[in-house]
Amino acid sequence: MSDQKENSNQADFVVVANRLPVDLERTAEGERRWTASPGGLVSALEPFLRSRKGAWVGWPGVPDVDVDEFDDDGLVLHPVSLSADEVRDYYEGFSNATLWPLYHDVVERPVFDRAWWNSYVKVNRRFAQASAEVAAKGATVWIQDYQLQLVPAMLRELRPDLRIGFFLHIPFPPVELFMQMPWRAAIIRGLTGADLVGFHRPGGAQNFLWLCRQLIGLESTRGAVGVRSRPGTMQVGDRTVRVGAFPISIDAAGLDSLARTKGVQERAAQLRRDLGNPKTVLLGVDRLDYTKGIDLRLQALHELLHEGRLQPDDVTFVQLATPSRERVEHYQRMRGEIEQMVGRINGEFSRVGHPVVHYLHQSVDRTELAGFFSAADVMVVTPLRDGMNLVCKEYVAARHDLGGALVLSEFAGAAAELSSAFLVNPHDLDGVKDALVAAITLDPAEGRRRMRAMRRQVLTHDVDRWARSFLQALGAEGVD
Ligand code: ADP
Ligand code: G6P
Repeated sequence: MSDQKENSNQADFVVVANRLPVDLERTAEGERRWTASPGGLVSALEPFLRSRKGAWVGWPGVPDVDVDEFDDDGLVLHPVSLSADEVRDYYEGFSNATLWPLYHDVVERPVFDRAWWNSYVKVNRRFAQASAEVAAKGATVWIQDYQLQLVPAMLRELRPDLRIGFFLHIPFPPVELFMQMPWRAAIIRGLTGADLVGFHRPGGAQNFLWLCRQLIGLESTRGAVGVRSRPGTMQVGDRTVRVGAFPISIDAAGLDSLARTKGVQERAAQLRRDLGNPKTVLLGVDRLDYTKGIDLRLQALHELLHEGRLQPDDVTFVQLATPSRERVEHYQRMRGEIEQMVGRINGEFSRVGHPVVHYLHQSVDRTELAGFFSAADVMVVTPLRDGMNLVCKEYVAARHDLGGALVLSEFAGAAAELSSAFLVNPHDLDGVKDALVAAITLDPAEGRRRMRAMRRQVLTHDVDRWARSFLQALGAEGVD
């Protein structure tokens, strides 16, 4: 891929996402500072893009600020500003109280609000216009995720010369659920503006192809879509649109080397000492989101302690939970429920100085996170639905010692790649409890065998491979 064009602020390669990779924060003293943005999209794309240069169009994370484009260590960031009303209607409303629950199997009831939809259209148009200004002639523009599904068609109209890719980072729902959406045809039309539409799993790609036939009458292929192969196709006017499955991943080698450093190893040992050297450390790391099944794992732990299958002196459960979408009602309710459960478990089973559950409603940096991964005997990942889930791959990448065990929901996209994990149906609480006990009492040789198999998968299928396979299928220039 070539760099920014000389003597021009237009770029040959542009990523467009709702968020920039950094968030603007206002400190208590009224000063501005940039911090890392939350979530898997940024974790995955940022290392890839930084190693290649290019431009990133996105929102700086706070309402009503106008920031000029700026260079962040070789990556040119183009802020798109949102008003407070747009943050409420487009971001918190349509993106996160309509699309997010609808696409995650209606785990919570999606809200369909016409004013939110109008705001979504308006903001998508603004992103399309910003992208049209940033992209050089014939550039590749890669649009990301559910917040921007109308941008491909809007951008195509403004700039027919561009090569446009779209990738959805969350699950694409079963057609029966998608059909609930009042603006369903408009969304499908928006996506077909891309040359390549990518999903994590073949099932999502096939659902989309079906909807293209049924809702907007396109003639699309009916054969099975493969992983990184055999994309579906359809004819949209004189263009052929491809539809494929590209499971996202992490900077596995980067995390592997970080976890091998003396600093991380010492930090892991210190964390275990700070936790009182329990026999078993269980770990959960998530954005505080109702799709992640944090409540289920707490409930499983509570029952195991109650039944005496686990002893409070033997286990410590650490839950790191990044604050997320805090003004959305679904999130406020879930936070209250989770915090109540943490209080209940600690109230019933802790001793002074030895809480059973350590709940940190905060984000930690990469080194600290690697320390937690290295310190944890069992990583607990129990989403009710997750497009991929990067946390489980990060845990595996951090375990060069072949120690640790992974309990993983079948409903995370990653389950298709990590078959040596303890796979669970998160709706089956007894199954989750049995898997936790099996992981805690795992024979070390069997544990090493499982971890070796998972590491082979994660280390050979990293984010670079994901991005390359997508961009190759898109026919982007300069990708080998
Ligand atoms: P999602 O994108 O839905 O948040 P993923 O599992 O795909 O879920 O990605 C989450 C990313 O955020 C991972 O890179 C993970 O390490 C990071 N993360 C989650 N919680 C924390 C936390 N408390 N502190 C630091 N990083 C976190
Ligand atoms: C998931 C979504 C991303 C989103 C991230 C954080 O990873 O797929 O698009 O950026 O969560 O959520 P937020 O609403 O804080 O951007």
